[in-house]
Amino acid sequence: MANDLEFVGAKGMKVAFIGSECYPFIKTGGLGDVMYALPRALLRQGCEVRVILPCYRCIPEKYRERMTYVGSFGMNLTSDGRSFYVGIMELELDGVTYDFIDNRDFFDWGNPYTGLWEDIPKYCYFSKASLAALNFLEWIPDVIHCHDWQAALVPVYLRTLFDVTPVGSARSVLTIHNLRFQGICSIEHLKYWTGLPDFLFNYPVFKVNDHEANMFKGGLAYADRITTVSSTYAGEIQTDFYGEGLNSHLWYHRAKLIGIVNGIDIDIWNSRTDKLLPVPYGEENVLKAKRENKKALQTRLGLTVDENKLVIGLISRLTDQKGLDLIDAVFTQMVDENVQVVILGTGDPRYENAFRYYENTFKGQVCAYIKYDESLAHQIYAGSDALLVPSLFEPCGLTQLIAMRYGTVPIVRETGGLKDTVEPYNEYTGEGNGFTFDQYRADLLLDAVRRAERVYFEERSRWDAIVTRDMEKDVSWEHSADLYLKLYGELKG
Ligand code: ADP
Ligand code: GLC
Repeated sequence: MANDLEFVGAKGMKVAFIGSECYPFIKTGGLGDVMYALPRALLRQGCEVRVILPCYRCIPEKYRERMTYVGSFGMNLTSDGRSFYVGIMELELDGVTYDFIDNRDFFDWGNPYTGLWEDIPKYCYFSKASLAALNFLEWIPDVIHCHDWQAALVPVYLRTLFDVTPVGSARSVLTIHNLRFQGICSIEHLKYWTGLPDFLFNYPVFKVNDHEANMFKGGLAYADRITTVSSTYAGEIQTDFYGEGLNSHLWYHRAKLIGIVNGIDIDIWNSRTDKLLPVPYGEENVLKAKRENKKALQTRLGLTVDENKLVIGLISRLTDQKGLDLIDAVFTQMVDENVQVVILGTGDPRYENAFRYYENTFKGQVCAYIKYDESLAHQIYAGSDALLVPSLFEPCGLTQLIAMRYGTVPIVRETGGLKDTVEPYNEYTGEGNGFTFDQYRADLLLDAVRRAERVYFEERSRWDAIVTRDMEKDVSWEHSADLYLKLYGELKG
């Protein structure tokens, strides 16, 4: 592979990442993890990487005070030519340069996403300002790698208003992390806030129908390459069920679409060095250490302290995507005197309340921690025996990867990246990484949990073998970073 990369000229390649969130500055889900970990993996392969992000007010003060002001300029944005301030604040972290686009009109909120009415102007501004900033910085990348609908206008701007500017020499990659969110609004609204030429709105590029336009759709049409975060999801989104209305569009553009599965940052997610764990561990002492971490977790969360219980964790945004209605449907059958359930998540009040109700009903057996809490997440990954991910759809999913790295056995539905990363346990050979079910049905989820229980309580040595195998599985970014580099190299030509 190393030779391959040299051949395509990947070494020394300049890549700009543009997206709406990035750990440790701002993270609401897996996009934040990828925007952090993939640039670092590319850097290790010899790329020069810059990450461009909005300068949200909610970025923690400890990072804001380390930013330096690089410059500012005025930029025309809207169709009536209104000019907006673009400030560039910069920070370097472990060799990666982060440029934050500063404008208080757009980013001065407590939350990155505040509803489509504000988000559409916000990300039109951000996409255009990111390209203008690259020109201003005179840092012209070979490839601009954009992420999700919030940065989907970048490829459109690149080939239109910026085509004959210095940054116009760059090629673009647009990654779909989640097709459910697309940035749809009235054609007039998008025309106004993008300032893009009228003719673009007469073709199917952006159009959903005679009244509405779709930012993601436009970006997918204009990007040189489209990637998504697993091979299975790349196929799924070309079907009616998973395509979120863009399946025909994606099928039409399939020649430039590929799936590259995510990894995780194995320095952050390292059970040996994880300072947030009561008892750090490696493969050699995982079984004993996990029991200790389990008891510490039970104590912290007010559960009955008993290392013999099977503790099932759920760390998730609480939205329909995550299969929570299946969990809700069989919850009372899942919890019994042998099984405890720990939930960490925030989201839809319907699910938040359901889980609070279960916590109340099953005191000492269920904990519903309705918050976003990084440190508790680490302790749940380490202290649980199994992790539940029964998603309706899952482009990649990182929680099952982190779970495996921490020796926690995933119980997942076979969809998207879950299918590509969790090999089903085979009761005849004892092989596999976790317990899986295929159709989106609560009885099948319950059956998968029961199968896991049976192996845990009745065939412990087989369970322990899964734990060790999961810890040894390569869930790092290395292989996938190579695939991205190869793709960038092909574009650079
Ligand atoms: P998605 O991006 O769809 O939310 P992923 O599985 O790709 O799902 O990524 C979720 C990421 O967010 C993981 O790093 C997970 O640990 C983290 N996470 C989700 N909910 C919480 C929470 N309530 N507290 C802490 N971390 C969370
Ligand atoms: C999205 C998807 C998730 C994926 C993450 C990072 O939020 O829902 O499956 O792991 O992006 O790519």
